[in-house]
Amino acid sequence: MAIKIGLLGFGTVASGIPFLLKENGDKITAAAKDEFVIAKVLVKDDDEKNRLLAAGHDYHFVTNVDDIVKDPEIDIVVELMGRIEPAKTFITKALEAGKHVVSANKDLIATHGKDIIGLAKDKGLAFYYEAAVAGGIPVLRTLANSLTSDKVTRILGVLNGTSNFMMTKMVDEGWTYEDALKTAQELGYAESDPTNDVEGIDAAYKAVILSQFGFGMTIDFEDVSHQGISTITPDDVAVAQELGYVIKLVGDVRETDSGISAQVSPTFLPKEHPLASVNGVMNAVFVESIGIGESMYYGPGAGQKPTATSVVADIIRIGRRIVDGNVGKSFNEFSRPTQLANPADVKSGYYFSLTVPDKKGQILRLAEIFNGEDVSFSQVLQQRGDGQKAQIVIVTHALSLTQLENVKAKLKAQSDFTLLNSFKVLGD
Ligand SMILES: NC(=O)c1ccc[n+]([C@@H]2O[C@H](COP(=O)([O-])OP(=O)(O)OC[C@H]3O[C@@H](n4cnc5c(N)ncnc54)[C@H](OP(=O)(O)O)[C@@H]3O)[C@@H](O)[C@H]2O)c1
Repeated sequence: MAIKIGLLGFGTVASGIPFLLKENGDKITAAAKDEFVIAKVLVKDDDEKNRLLAAGHDYHFVTNVDDIVKDPEIDIVVELMGRIEPAKTFITKALEAGKHVVSANKDLIATHGKDIIGLAKDKGLAFYYEAAVAGGIPVLRTLANSLTSDKVTRILGVLNGTSNFMMTKMVDEGWTYEDALKTAQELGYAESDPTNDVEGIDAAYKAVILSQFGFGMTIDFEDVSHQGISTITPDDVAVAQELGYVIKLVGDVRETDSGISAQVSPTFLPKEHPLASVNGVMNAVFVESIGIGESMYYGPGAGQKPTATSVVADIIRIGRRIVDGNVGKSFNEFSRPTQLANPADVKSGYYFSLTVPDKKGQILRLAEIFNGEDVSFSQVLQQRGDGQKAQIVIVTHALSLTQLENVKAKLKAQSDFTLLNSFKVLGD
């Protein structure tokens, strides 16, 4: 008897599932010890149903989710609609009706995952979501299973393909942010409203999920600080290169003495850092741990087949457990009380770019401000001024978030200084 699947949504990712079930059917059946059948597919309305049937998709399309969640024959519901609602309601209904659930919905899992995971646990059901972080890279299961013996101390990730494509163009070809965004939209990498990608929100969702798998702590989305790439100027990119760095949007989750910290921000990566060579739409997750040391998981963070591959891996895992009679094990069993880091313990080097009056003594004034907060310079670059203003770039040794805020406040208090940008610098 085959294991029956109900798909919610038939867009980019969902429509990649039949390809794998067909082209890799023998291996999938052997791994699960049973066959999978797509029993029903939920679409929005009859127009969509008729369009898909006319295009040759020979499935039992339904327009009411109850036709799936109340169907006693369906074992696994696969939610691939995206967004919070109605996905949250539909997943909840499915779990309440005793269905196992697979999803790739990072927005939902990062913001409402606790409730859904709790419900699945109470019901003894599986809720798996490998594709929610870095699409085709099997990083969640790697953290949950292969790294069980290891203690993760920091996870750094290039987690958003759209912004990484844009940053690659800005770094390699000197494009402006606006040109890079326009091309990303033309190529279909960026949506017409690109906010989630370029402002670091999508990467912050993934950081929330990584914090659970890497550190056993469920950090709230609101506690992930996120800064996007929209303020990065060609000047910042050029200076980074001159100083031996590449700028990328990096998610950074780490454990300090006082607790966990998660940030998404443009980051100066030393050119030799493995993440610095992750280009275009590719993603990578770089894990620092006490056992393995450093390891990096690299691959396509999105795309139909890569993402569907992760979704089908979840389906197989559930199918196999149904067959073996031990289904219901949590996707991630590592759980500890969540403790947020004290900002004084979260330390990094920082880049400051600012304009100052084009006259003698400005570096001294800056040195006094930074010294006053016990922050030392690692590099200083002064660009030729125009007689009125000069630009100065400072890279500091490690300073804490508390020191960072204090330095910024003092710089802003100088009416003749303008702080143009400040970004994290890795490796100092
Ligand atoms: N695409 C990727 O590479 C990728 C990578 C990793 C994770 N994901 C995640 O995977 C999920 C699916 O992404 P996708 O790219 O496949 O999205 P998509 O192409 O937009 O597909 C979603 C489909 O669900 C349909 N839908 C929306 N609301 C529905 C409803 N109430 N009832 C029935 N159908 C509904 C949409 O119809 P309309 O178009 O008419 O709204 C669309 O056909 C998302 O959570 C996404 O974040 C995607």
